[in-house]
Amino acid sequence: MEKLKESGINPGLAVIIVGEDPASKIYVRNKKLACEAIGIRSEEYALPAETTQEELLALVETLNKKEDIHGILCQLPLPKHLDEEAVINAISPKKDVDAFHPVNVGKIMIGNFDFLPCTPAGVMELIKESGIDVKGKECVVVGRSNIVGKPMAMLLLHQHGTVTICHSKTRDLKEACLRADVLVAAVGVPELITGDMIKEGAVVIDVGMNRLPDKRLVGDVHFESAKERAAAITPVPGGVGPMTIAMLMKNTVKAATL
Ligand code: GUN
Repeated sequence: MEKLKESGINPGLAVIIVGEDPASKIYVRNKKLACEAIGIRSEEYALPAETTQEELLALVETLNKKEDIHGILCQLPLPKHLDEEAVINAISPKKDVDAFHPVNVGKIMIGNFDFLPCTPAGVMELIKESGIDVKGKECVVVGRSNIVGKPMAMLLLHQHGTVTICHSKTRDLKEACLRADVLVAAVGVPELITGDMIKEGAVVIDVGMNRLPDKRLVGDVHFESAKERAAAITPVPGGVGPMTIAMLMKNTVKAATL
């Protein structure tokens, strides 16, 4: 960061949060702390739940024009009366450090991109740093969200994995999961994937973050049974979450150089 700053690059990230969702508040706080830790300037825009679509779009427009802001992130989900898609579309693609804008989504599909979405990029980094090569392997992604499932499948495909995407209408989820050499769970169903659905020696990555009625935080994988079969497995919390934030930092630095 010091070298970047010496060369006149001083990355700035704007984080917008609307309303009082407790999980979103924690995510935003962690993003701000990461910025402080590595020397990225961050500005937080905490707006009340009753903010109108026009007010939110006006803020995005101001931030698009602000020269000392290189990255803009609007924490999702937004309160129900706001149109998430319109907000994503309003963020300048060059400042879209989440890589949610359709221009960036399209670039990822083609394979010529500036930013990767933070969570899937973090998963790929974990896989790579663990010395795992997905080339030719059976990769199963459970979940098809725009934020994780769909881009995750694309990144595994870029690395030459043989990719299956499963979702709520998949006829036999267990059969599909049992084929996986690399299994990524991103469905938002607490402990849906149990040990009996995992092939011996598989790599299991749990993107889930589910709060149970008893306040426990669990993933989409039942960790205790899954760890008996997996060769490598990520815990919740502390697995993918910190990687997502690391990738946000990387994207913000990249945005400052565009
Ligand atoms: N909500 C859950 N994950 C994310 C993310 O990666 N970015 C934003 N902006 N909101 C989220």
